[in-house]
Amino acid sequence: MRATLVTGIAELVTNDPSVGSGLLGILHDAALVDEGGRVAWVGPATRAPACDRALDVAGRAVFPGFVDSHTHLVFEGQRSDEFAARMAGEPYTGGGIDRTVAATRGATDERLRTSLAARMRELRGQGTTTVEIKSGYGLGVAQEARLLRLAGEVTTETTYLGGHVIAPEYRDRRGDYIDLVTGAMLEACAPHAKWIDAFCEPGSPTALDEEEAREVLRAGAARGLRPRVHGAQLAEGPGPRLAVEVGAASLDHATHLSEADVDLLALAAPEDGPVVTLLPLVEFSTRQPFPDARRLLERGVTVALASDCNPGTNASSSMAVAMGIAVRDMGMTPQEALWAATAGGAAALRRRDVGRLAPGCRADLAVVGAPSHLHLTYRFGVPLVRGLDPGTCPDATLRADVDLNRRPEW
Ligand code: NIG
Ligand code: FE
Repeated sequence: MRATLVTGIAELVTNDPSVGSGLLGILHDAALVDEGGRVAWVGPATRAPACDRALDVAGRAVFPGFVDSHTHLVFEGQRSDEFAARMAGEPYTGGGIDRTVAATRGATDERLRTSLAARMRELRGQGTTTVEIKSGYGLGVAQEARLLRLAGEVTTETTYLGGHVIAPEYRDRRGDYIDLVTGAMLEACAPHAKWIDAFCEPGSPTALDEEEAREVLRAGAARGLRPRVHGAQLAEGPGPRLAVEVGAASLDHATHLSEADVDLLALAAPEDGPVVTLLPLVEFSTRQPFPDARRLLERGVTVALASDCNPGTNASSSMAVAMGIAVRDMGMTPQEALWAATAGGAAALRRRDVGRLAPGCRADLAVVGAPSHLHLTYRFGVPLVRGLDPGTCPDATLRADVDLNRRPEW
């Protein structure tokens, strides 16, 4: 098996405190060996073993690629007009989802596959190496299964979201739609999905109420899909306690948490309770208040950061920008934000093989065009980071990608 030695790493973030210092397990002047796409060795450059091939990143920082644990990447059509309206004061209520459902239903597989591939390139070009993708813009048996099949072509982290909103043609018979989501649609989707999700938001007229969401999540769990929950996005509500009740792997959004919600999440945390996945790009794009991450961290709750990239509430795929907002406005340190966007995302997906760079983990590297991870937030919005696969990319691609022949300017 071909081994590649990555050298010239000014700062290696391992997220493994047994390997390096602090929360991020940082090593300076480090090297890493990739063997067959897995990390075979990490340590000081002076003790690096000889390998078939060497790749010098010339004084840059390297970290485990972003784990974006919440996206809706399979869709057709854009809704930038809604963004402009929100910036002018219009509230978000979920109504625009119907537009994306209509456009997505009308798109061919080929069209959806092509736009999904473009989005995956966009994410990877910004350092995201693991991504979760939800369905939820088909809202019919064949349509939801199709979106999950397409998502499954690019990731193993697929989430059945037939319970995104009540499908437009079922609005005056909501119970029938829930029967479909928990019956024939679940049967068709379960073979293509790892997770089940529901948008539990009584404040939105088309999203699911507590009882509907409970039914959907329970049915999915009985079929072997572990729940995740969209909750407390628009107002305080039942989402957080439902996430705890059904054993969800993650509570996502959590923009409006009551003290009682935080108590419940903190109590559940040591018992494999929900990771709280905060989505600052959504708050930015919907003019919502930024959630207080510090309040959760102080209570021992695991916090993840994700993009929630979708055509409605946030169309940005930049995890680095999400981190910058979390540091500036949500009470996280730059170290906590990077941990949440990598190891935190892995925790939200219950993965141990990504989000860390320790022997045995996937060698999913992200390279920063600067000597320290701090530049990710310090140079807010600047495209400094790239996903890097030392084992499988041809050398020429690597060089073109991160311009490895040149030292970083900063
Ligand atoms: O995570 N909140 C519900 N679902 C998506 C947005 C869907 C849309 O508006 O298209 C979200 O924000
Ligand atoms: Fe979402």
